[in-house]
Amino acid sequence: MSSITAPARPGAGIKPMSAWKSPLYIADLPGAAEHNEVLRDLIVTRTMTDPEASNFGVISATKANQDILAWAHPAVDWFRGQIMNAVSALTAAVLGEAANEVTQGVIAEAWTVVYAEGGSLRPHTHHDSAWSGVYYVESGDGGGTGDAGYLQLLDPRPAAIAREASEGVYRVEPVPGRMVAFPGWLPHSVQATLTGGGRRICIAWNVAYDKDWTGMK
Ligand SMILES: [Fe+2]
Repeated sequence: MSSITAPARPGAGIKPMSAWKSPLYIADLPGAAEHNEVLRDLIVTRTMTDPEASNFGVISATKANQDILAWAHPAVDWFRGQIMNAVSALTAAVLGEAANEVTQGVIAEAWTVVYAEGGSLRPHTHHDSAWSGVYYVESGDGGGTGDAGYLQLLDPRPAAIAREASEGVYRVEPVPGRMVAFPGWLPHSVQATLTGGGRRICIAWNVAYDKDWTGMK
């Protein structure tokens, strides 16, 4: 199967692109380096003390900090805003001017994943969210080889894959400060990093529409 690698897409507020007719948002956020330092320290410290930290669904990685969006910290305030930027851009890309008619608010959840070397994540979907995404705080070192540590977005059309009509896997390099967002139904996975590839830290999130929404939680 062939594959496509995401090009660099600098700047916030970029327009989503499309792969297999599915909207994708990829942005290298300006000013991210300053926030990433703070986020990295907060995430590493709190992962070690989070009683609910787990390795459910991941390999050589720890999922934790499901309360991260409630943390009172300017870096988290900034991150919440970046989720909203991604959701707004994707909603506008799908609905056009009709996006202005969406009156329901959104509810968001997020968690952190700290990957040790060799860490990976099996293919899955986020079936109960409208939009999902991942943000890279720290990327480790892929060693410049292949797709170690890459996010793999998979063609959601089984018939296209069966008939070799698919462009293949869409690969996104984990770059610190990069936000990637996509429909929650889009299958995706994470390639294992190399031995010695170092630690990778990301924040994953889901957003759903909620008629009783009173503010982001
Ligand atoms: Fe996921």
